[in-house]
Amino acid sequence: MQVDVLLGMQWGDEGKGKIVDVLTPKYDIIARFQGGPNAGHTLEFDGQKHVLHTIPSGIFHNGKMNLIGNGVVIDPVIFKKEIDNLAKQNVPYQERLLISRKAHLILPTHRLLDAASELAKGKDKIGSTLKGIGPTYMDKTGRNGLRVGDIEAKDFESRYQALRDKHTQMLDRMDFDYGALAEMETEWMEAARFMQSIPFTDSEYYINEALNAGKRILAEGAQGSLLDIEFGSYPFVTSSNTICAGACTGLGIAPNKIGEVYGIFKAYCTRVGSGPFPTELHDETGQRLRDIGHEYGATTGRPRRCGWLDMVALHYAVMLNGVTKLIMTKADVLNEFQNIGVCTAYDVDGKVSKHVPYDQSAAISPVYEQHQGWQSELSADAALPKELEAYIKFVEEASSCPISIVSLGPDRTQTLIRESNLQPA
Ligand code: GDP
Ligand code: IMO
Ligand code: MG
Repeated sequence: MQVDVLLGMQWGDEGKGKIVDVLTPKYDIIARFQGGPNAGHTLEFDGQKHVLHTIPSGIFHNGKMNLIGNGVVIDPVIFKKEIDNLAKQNVPYQERLLISRKAHLILPTHRLLDAASELAKGKDKIGSTLKGIGPTYMDKTGRNGLRVGDIEAKDFESRYQALRDKHTQMLDRMDFDYGALAEMETEWMEAARFMQSIPFTDSEYYINEALNAGKRILAEGAQGSLLDIEFGSYPFVTSSNTICAGACTGLGIAPNKIGEVYGIFKAYCTRVGSGPFPTELHDETGQRLRDIGHEYGATTGRPRRCGWLDMVALHYAVMLNGVTKLIMTKADVLNEFQNIGVCTAYDVDGKVSKHVPYDQSAAISPVYEQHQGWQSELSADAALPKELEAYIKFVEEASSCPISIVSLGPDRTQTLIRESNLQPA
């Protein structure tokens, strides 16, 4: 068996949570492999909306296992809140959830350091979600971090304090007030202890043994390829490998075990936080996309920046990830538009190119192609309007990749599956 991977092709919020939920019936295990509570994955079914930050999006399905892999960073406080929400809805999470011992812990001081770092950057700030992601991955690669497995150690609290003290010295040097820390720490330590009620696992063995036993596994990406630490618009990126390669390191699976790679993208583009966004629309059209698409962050509530679909960036993401099937979401948001723009190339100082340039802060003028809108409602039970079919065909040809699923609304049922082998079992 192989591990299929589902990844965001843009700057996050492409609808990963919804589609993982739709695909879960085909799998036995859903595994998160990177990122942390900077993610906000939304699912809707039976008239209810659920937002997950750390917990994989297969958690609502009976008989499925959900693994938080070693590449994920976990804030125990946010994790416990997610669990409390699931408990309120009588979701039997205990029998569906596993955590890797090697996943790193986000300390309260990581969050404070994130805030201090953003403050120091001033107008050049990254626009971080302030969940402590960057500082936690810095401690991981700097070989200072605390891991989930450490919670079981006798000297956990003293190890926590040693790292905390290192952080407060840094905060002192940055002249950052951390008066609220004591209160944050009490809640954090309680939540860290609570985590022990979920099985900790050596997840690299778990996942490889599951593969050998013929289990079907879906790896759920967080963020998007254009926020990848290597290939995103650095430094305006997150601190993990959001691309397919991250599934190998974040779960302990070999590259030759990767099967299908699903690349999910919105029919237009959004970005939250700072950084280059060549097709951003600062006009009424951008505001219309935001209003109709309810483009406000699932984690921070911040308004998302909106613009037309960028094929240069999508092609780049398809290339980096080895995408085998594309998934288009939020097609319905374009229902009312008479014309739809698509960027097919970048003009940088008069030079037209289909490559993402090294310096993305340079003035990029997108070269647009206009597509006719369909100006009608969409339904998963009816044929798609011919203009939408033409839009889909255009993207398939420009990306050399088939679009296997088209999402027509936030609900589980508002999904058009174009390939029979993807129909839920
Ligand atoms: P994720 O981070 O990739 O899981 O995406 P988010 O949950 O942050 O943002 C996607 C938003 O779009 C959520 O509010 C979803 O409920 C919603 N959504 C997902 N697919 C569709 C779709 O096809 N149409 C519409 N209108 N909304 C969608
Ligand atoms: P999901 O999984 C959209 C953005 C932040 C910021 C940058 C760095 O829901 O798609 P960080 O908190 O990682 O230091 O922020 O990355 N960002 C996201 N944008 N969706 C996400 O996750 C994101 N996670 C981080 O806005 O620009
Ligand atoms: Mg999101």
